Amino acid sequence: MKQSFFIKTYGCQMNVYDSEKIVELLTNGGYRQSSNLEESDIAIFNTCHIREKAAEKLFSDLGRISKYKENKIKSGSSMRIIVTGCVAQAEGDEIKKRNKSVDLIFGPQNYQNIVDALKVKKKKYVYADFLCEEKFESLPIKNSREISRLVTIQEGCDKFCSFCVVPYTRGAEFSRPVEGIFFEVKKLVEMGAKEVILLGQNVSSYNSNIFEDGKEVSVKLSKLCNLISSISGLERIRYLTSHPNDIKNDLINEHHNNKKLMPFLHLPIQSGSDKILKKMNRNHLRDDYIKLVKKIKSKINNMAFSSDFIVGYPGETENDFDQTIDLIEQVGFASSYSFKYSPRAGTQSSLKHLDMVNEDVSDLRLKKIQRLLNKQQEEFNLNFINKNEEVLFTNKGKKNNQFVGRTKYLQPVHVLSDVNIIGKKLIVNLENLTSFSFHGRIIS
Ligand code: 5AD
Ligand code: SF4
Repeated sequence: MKQSFFIKTYGCQMNVYDSEKIVELLTNGGYRQSSNLEESDIAIFNTCHIREKAAEKLFSDLGRISKYKENKIKSGSSMRIIVTGCVAQAEGDEIKKRNKSVDLIFGPQNYQNIVDALKVKKKKYVYADFLCEEKFESLPIKNSREISRLVTIQEGCDKFCSFCVVPYTRGAEFSRPVEGIFFEVKKLVEMGAKEVILLGQNVSSYNSNIFEDGKEVSVKLSKLCNLISSISGLERIRYLTSHPNDIKNDLINEHHNNKKLMPFLHLPIQSGSDKILKKMNRNHLRDDYIKLVKKIKSKINNMAFSSDFIVGYPGETENDFDQTIDLIEQVGFASSYSFKYSPRAGTQSSLKHLDMVNEDVSDLRLKKIQRLLNKQQEEFNLNFINKNEEVLFTNKGKKNNQFVGRTKYLQPVHVLSDVNIIGKKLIVNLENLTSFSFHGRIIS
């Protein structure tokens, strides 16, 4: 009987991609995936360290599962607990100190060692080297017929925003070689994918090279999208996440010329106050962002934007917060994420304990910003009522004969159909809106 493993994924889509790879590695290595944590021989927690809440969730899960492991051992059975991901990288030994029942710990660039480490009893239990190149060379592609697939093209970050743990947990920026990415996308399309989402902490600073006509030429994100779009059968390309300072004309032109590249840009700004942007080490002003958005819209008039915001950053006054609200009103976002500042050990901002914003004030600001962002999202969506939009169908819905897809702007759309339309790109009349998703009628 094969040993079984359960995996729980916390955090961002890069972790979702990594978990897929871990599943594939273990399955190829002779293990069986189980959807039941309690009955598994191996429990894997693929963790997120970006905010305190995300990291603490791991420790509360570990608390519960370690009691279960103790009981299992008492009854003569066994269980191994593995922690992977960004908490593993940042707090390796600390995890073991806080919870003795953890057996193995792997940072995000060490998954290629999981199967070996499980088989051989070694003293080493923390694997936290920065081995990005080795990681991507050795990770298998998950066999699946899913329509929309994630592909990590870049990992790590050199920007060092003062609040962010990523440069420490995911390491320095590394761009995967073009060939490996191209091969992976081609394979995914052969399996049935119609859309790929190119992932990285900073995809907009993707930088690699290829040989063309005997010469080495540089490949930025724009050229990578261009190369990938030549894969026949692939219909949509998205990418995530970008930094405003890296969006240059080549990428804007590629959006203009490449019909497979979707007109939706996730472009975090974090704050609308120049003072806070400076403290955050974002290296641009609010006006640079507003000008960039205007420039992009002037070239691609249907481009929609989303962003990330942090409220309550140390030193944020009411006036700074108002500047953020003003920026949101000026730009107009199709959707966005907003967070309360969370001090992370080791980051620049966590070293200065001055000017902390009162929790109640931060809570109020978060509520206010979320209300505005939700209102903008609703307004954006209402513009689509009774319009015909192209929808790529990816899944079955909850109801009979119901299918779910997304517009170019990532809006979810539900339709009814007697035939299976998964994988089809159809024109749909968007009839009505419930909360943030549409119900529509297939036109063609
Ligand atoms: N506190 C709150 N939010 C954070 N983010 C990153 N670090 C922190 C932090 N310390 C948010 C940023 C980033 C998103 C992925 O998470 O908005 O863009
Ligand atoms: Fe973190 Fe993004 Fe800043 Fe990099 S650019 S440090 S990933 S917030």
